[in-house]
Amino acid sequence: MIVIEGRIFYNGSLTQGAVGIEDGKITDVKKVLRGDRNIDLGDRIILPGAVDPHVHFRDPGMTGKEDFVSGSTAALYGGVTCVLDMPNTKPPVTDARSLDDKKRTIKGRSFVDYGLFAALTKGCDVLSMAAKVAGFKLFMGSTTGDLLMNDPSDVHWSITAAARTGKRISIHAEDDSMIHRNEEKNNRDHLRNRPVSAEHNAISRLSPYKGMKVNICHITDAHSAALASSFGFTTEVTAHHLLFDDSVSDSGEYKVNPPLRDRKTKDALYKAFIDDKITMFGSDHAPHTIDEKQRIYNDAPSGIPGVETYVPMMMDMVKRGKITVQHLVKMSSAAPSQAFGIKKGMIKKGYDADIAVYDMRLSKRIRARELHSKASYTPYEGRDAIFPDMVIVNGNIQLKDGELCGDMTGRDMFE
Ligand code: NCD
Ligand code: ZN
Repeated sequence: MIVIEGRIFYNGSLTQGAVGIEDGKITDVKKVLRGDRNIDLGDRIILPGAVDPHVHFRDPGMTGKEDFVSGSTAALYGGVTCVLDMPNTKPPVTDARSLDDKKRTIKGRSFVDYGLFAALTKGCDVLSMAAKVAGFKLFMGSTTGDLLMNDPSDVHWSITAAARTGKRISIHAEDDSMIHRNEEKNNRDHLRNRPVSAEHNAISRLSPYKGMKVNICHITDAHSAALASSFGFTTEVTAHHLLFDDSVSDSGEYKVNPPLRDRKTKDALYKAFIDDKITMFGSDHAPHTIDEKQRIYNDAPSGIPGVETYVPMMMDMVKRGKITVQHLVKMSSAAPSQAFGIKKGMIKKGYDADIAVYDMRLSKRIRARELHSKASYTPYEGRDAIFPDMVIVNGNIQLKDGELCGDMTGRDMFE
């Protein structure tokens, strides 16, 4: 048994103690434990690893933008010990065969644990995929990939079929019929083409599915979040929608779906986040090449990278007293694990030994050149963050003294 000692996030607060780890699981949490090897972390903070329910690692098919090796390295350096990867890869994951092929491609190439989504498409065979996926993805608005399903009868059929499997359905909720396609020169134009009403309308249309296991991805608006919660849905929020509004810059680097909102909408979303009205973080890590992102705005693809930076930025906010460590752990670890039914996200006997250790003295500025995604840029350049100095995935020490030291032992959680 390995034992790590420090300030553990246990039962909702930080307490000095010891975590016992054996065969990839947490076997004990006590004041004192004696192991075959004891690692004393002093006053460093020991949190459950984060679970990111929304990444686009572009593997297979677009590995110039990212692949599972680079994406999972970035996740690890950001304290994320499990990622759920979206199906808009090439070919897209739409049936058992493309799912199995993607699984074969990725196997043995991840530093963190993972799960895959399958896309809901016309007439797809949900039953043949259900046991092997983290959940299903429904795109009600067009975005990267060609997986749009916004026709009312398609939406109805697919949600009903997928809900019967017991898996959660993550929805890109922008009603495509309300999206305009006018030429765009900047974020304001992109916002005009994809108004917040498109998000609100998409969620309103989901009222017949009240109480079903639906998750609204990358929510951008407090009213949308309240509506989704009133239907019993979970909600995800990204760092970019919390931190940026449409005035940030006119560069295509900030082009994303759903778009960055106006200042007022962003401020209300931030308040909803602070008031615990949003279920969880989801980075929507969506890397593209810097060349693509620096094209004229209209031709730049949508998507912002962020898997490596969201938890470290939030840790810095904890340090500054802007959010509590309880709120961070709930939104980054406990809630996504619970939503997708995996025994992670808590330091508790019987849970997977996924742990991230932070030294609160080690604030530093985010620098794109020090990050690990193939996207060589970050919209968070210069922001303060606290990166983990040790990360354990499934009992394996994958990162130590802030440096990668493990192997690609990440497991598919839905094999
Ligand atoms: C995502 C991508 O590039 O895959 N883009 C984005 O702007 N968020 C797709 C998505 O999640 O909509
Ligand atoms: Zn999306």
